[in-house]
Amino acid sequence: MAREETTGFMAMKGAGYYSKATVGAKHVMDNAAQMVLDAVDRMGLEKTSGVFRATDMGAADGGTSLDMWRRVLAQVRAQAPDRPIEMIYTDLPRNDFSQVFQIVHGLTGEATYLDEVSGVHVMASGTSFHEAIVPAGTLDLGFSATASHYITAVPCNIEDHVHMVGASGETRQAYEDKGASDWDNMLAQRGAEMKTGARLCLFNFGIDEDGRYLGNTGGVNMFDTFALHWRSLLDDGIITEAEFANTNFPQVYRTQSQFVTPLKDKQSAAYKSGLRLEHVEARVVRCPFEQAFSEQGGDPRQFARDYIPTLRSWSEPTFANGLSRDRSAVDRARIIDAFYGRYEDMVAADPAGHAMDYVHIYMVCVKE
Ligand SMILES: C[S@@+](CC[C@H](N)C(=O)[O-])C[C@H]1O[C@@H](n2cnc3c(N)ncnc32)[C@H](O)[C@@H]1O
Repeated sequence: MAREETTGFMAMKGAGYYSKATVGAKHVMDNAAQMVLDAVDRMGLEKTSGVFRATDMGAADGGTSLDMWRRVLAQVRAQAPDRPIEMIYTDLPRNDFSQVFQIVHGLTGEATYLDEVSGVHVMASGTSFHEAIVPAGTLDLGFSATASHYITAVPCNIEDHVHMVGASGETRQAYEDKGASDWDNMLAQRGAEMKTGARLCLFNFGIDEDGRYLGNTGGVNMFDTFALHWRSLLDDGIITEAEFANTNFPQVYRTQSQFVTPLKDKQSAAYKSGLRLEHVEARVVRCPFEQAFSEQGGDPRQFARDYIPTLRSWSEPTFANGLSRDRSAVDRARIIDAFYGRYEDMVAADPAGHAMDYVHIYMVCVKE
């Protein structure tokens, strides 16, 4: 099988930048941990034996999910005292897996479940979640947060924007079609990996019934702001037309109905793999940086300095990838710094409405 185009994607900023800057993603998981605990409850682990295998797919540095896993693995241990637990962190090959091990093994100072839950064996995989990660019929609990919006390849460039949420017509349709086929395949891969009775918990970026999505919950639209500043670099002759055109987030935000479709369609690969929907809901989790600023006040420049890294932690690779390979590393870094500097100056000058609120569609599936 051909490697997917985005397998070489740079993943999140490494060296711990991701989880330090992205506390909101941790809130998403901590707030919804009960859904995973309930799913584990329904598995009836008391009567089972053998290795209990779990995956955290698209885990980045593993820091944001650490507290959620502390609760989940403690419950698995309580209900299955004798089963060895295999905890597999997965992400793209260029992910900073060293950071995963440093965080989970307690080298960064965070409290780790390894000190609390016995018999946990931590491992990692650099295989994309669009492919088979573990052998068929061996997975007990699949989990992924804030990652399934990454598609295998962008279907086309987006005119005058950088994200499919800013696309219309045929371009929008091409992204939605790509999102639909990747999603069906991604679910089917999980269905094949799972044991009968296993659970799959997915907390996905999406578009809710009010049309809200990440960074678009009523204030300034974050993706429009990305496009605005990227275009300003073009207008100022700092990047080229080709670089603007080649900058496209390899992502699709799906609606709840789009998420659910393959789980209801008997002809889909996901359905045929035995996956069935147990639960779905949409939630908005408030941007912690905007919340602190609006409740406690303070210097707008400081808010801007605190806020921009949470956008930068996950968006920088897409902008860096859009730049010509002929540029030196120094030149690329200068352009990327200028880009986020413009965004920061805008927020500092008028912070009202800037917020990266998280909009997720939460799903729990069972393998029949
Ligand atoms: C926004 S981060 C989310 C990290 C963490 N799960 C969280 O919720 O804080 C998205 C992660 O998905 C990873 N990712 C993107 N495409 C992937 C793929 N095809 N397979 C595995 N991981 C992928 C990225 O490298 C990145 O680490």
